[in-house]
Amino acid sequence: MCGIVGHLGPMGSVDIVLEGLKRLEYRGYDSSGVSFINENGIINTFKKEGKLENLVQLLEDKDTASMISIGHTRWATHGGVNDTNSHPHSIENLSMVHNGIIENADILREGLIKEGYTFKSETDSEVFLIMVHSLMKSMPLGEAILKGFSQISGNSAFVFIHGEEKEIYAIRKSAPLVCGTHSANSHALVSSDAYALVGVADRIYFPEDNVLCHLSGKNKELISFYDTDGRPSKRYTSKVQSTQIDPSDKGDYEHFMLKEINEQSGLVRSLCQYYFEGDGSTFLNDIGKLRPSKFHISACGTAYYAGLVVKNFIEGINRIPCSTELASEFRYRNPIVNDGEVGLFISQSGETADTLACQEECVKLGVKTLSLVNVEGSSLYRGCDHNLLIRAGMEIGVASTKAFTQMGLTGRLLSFALNEKYTDKEARRELAAKVSLLADRMDEVLGRESEIKAIAEEIYNKKGYFFTGRNIYFPIALEGALKLKEIAYVHAEGYASGELKHGPIALIDEEMVNIAIVGPELKDKTVSNIQEIKARKGIIVSIGPEDDKNLKKMSDYFIGLNFDGLEELSPLYVNLVNQLLSYYMAKFKGTDIDKPRNLAKSVTVE
Ligand code: F6R
Repeated sequence: MCGIVGHLGPMGSVDIVLEGLKRLEYRGYDSSGVSFINENGIINTFKKEGKLENLVQLLEDKDTASMISIGHTRWATHGGVNDTNSHPHSIENLSMVHNGIIENADILREGLIKEGYTFKSETDSEVFLIMVHSLMKSMPLGEAILKGFSQISGNSAFVFIHGEEKEIYAIRKSAPLVCGTHSANSHALVSSDAYALVGVADRIYFPEDNVLCHLSGKNKELISFYDTDGRPSKRYTSKVQSTQIDPSDKGDYEHFMLKEINEQSGLVRSLCQYYFEGDGSTFLNDIGKLRPSKFHISACGTAYYAGLVVKNFIEGINRIPCSTELASEFRYRNPIVNDGEVGLFISQSGETADTLACQEECVKLGVKTLSLVNVEGSSLYRGCDHNLLIRAGMEIGVASTKAFTQMGLTGRLLSFALNEKYTDKEARRELAAKVSLLADRMDEVLGRESEIKAIAEEIYNKKGYFFTGRNIYFPIALEGALKLKEIAYVHAEGYASGELKHGPIALIDEEMVNIAIVGPELKDKTVSNIQEIKARKGIIVSIGPEDDKNLKKMSDYFIGLNFDGLEELSPLYVNLVNQLLSYYMAKFKGTDIDKPRNLAKSVTVE
């Protein structure tokens, strides 16, 4: 979703902002823009539809020398994708970027039109800019932002610059915003994502909602924070950040997605080590003491499917009831949540608007909240009582791969921590051995890429795809279909194997593919379901036990796997095959695999 970067420093501000925006490209966007203050105190703004490269080209022959600038990558919500609707929006010598949605924009716009203002764009964002401009007739910029911010509804983050003030102001409510400084080099920055600040800032600040952030070269500290009454605020946290961290690169891989798929076996090994032998053991111990009577899991997309995997672990192993719900549904359906239950939220970014809203709902309902989250310091991480980091590292590919595996595995470790046998060394050794076996088996699958690629080449141009699986493999069927549609732009659906005959089987013909997951459990029943598809001429790609000759014979394509010893962890193993299949099908289709159309990495609006 929208990316924001603002910078103030000795020189080269536009280059720093453009570099930050480049890092945020992975989040998904459809236009970009930058505003900077030149040496005469005048704001210059350039914006362009399409890739960031278009903006860079537009700036090539321009004098961009500046000490203060703001930039934005826009993921359209209100108003079409074009240069005018792109950010920054400006009026006179005031310029602004926005991430989020102003829900009462229409009514506010009407009032401002009555005051005599006209609007250039169709966006809700411009409404706030004009509001602040109007309020500035009777108060300074900082006060005008605070006052205007109290009048808008919805979740948003804004960053402003003013030609005469030569300072940056930023504010947020339930939308991501971080600030950063490098005091030795006199840089102050603000962004929607700490990743944009890597290598430039050596301290990162996380302001709470409604805190006005003021970046100014005149202050020794470079950044100060104010509460809504204008007094200095303590409602922020900060941490030191190494400037040595290299922003992620693809290495020898053609795409980040393929790199991230290949990282999974290593990540699986190190996650287990971290929680069993490393610093993570304290967190796991604390969670073990929670003993909830029920978990309410909520999440979105891939994280939701990981939530179904986690539910299977917790219900199957701990016999603790668990509901897994789409965050966008849970938040509005007045859920029944009782004392002693726990809200569990799963998220890679920790910034997904619907998931954050569920966490807030659970706080209101008075229960403890726990996250399985990738980004330490994200809004979800800061909001929850407890967190288990999934430690997937930076995930750049928009289609989530390694985060899913790490979410599932962290859920398995959570279920272990909740178990009475948690302190039993032998039980711990057994689970660690199983995780290590999972990593080895994943390495074997990764060594079979060419075999999976060959199948992808045969099937990538068919009419539609059903991913099917039963029981613990059902969430993997759902996730497999999501991955394929996201990156290959084909119609795919995930179904419980036994459910196809209740309607969708009407779609089966010789152009439809059934990617059937056949684990050792309920194998015969799943095979019968495949027969039903085969009888209607559907193309069968089965992923099943390698020694099953019968399954191999009845399938058009067969990917044999060794399920022995993996038991409940085997869904995470099978999922790797689906990831590779989707990746290669998308590659044959020639889509933009790392940045699929219309998608955003971090969905910060509901
Ligand atoms: C799919 C995908 C999305 C995310 C979803 C939740 O590949 O990436 O479905 O899983 O938007 O995002 P997080 O995990 O950041 O809350």
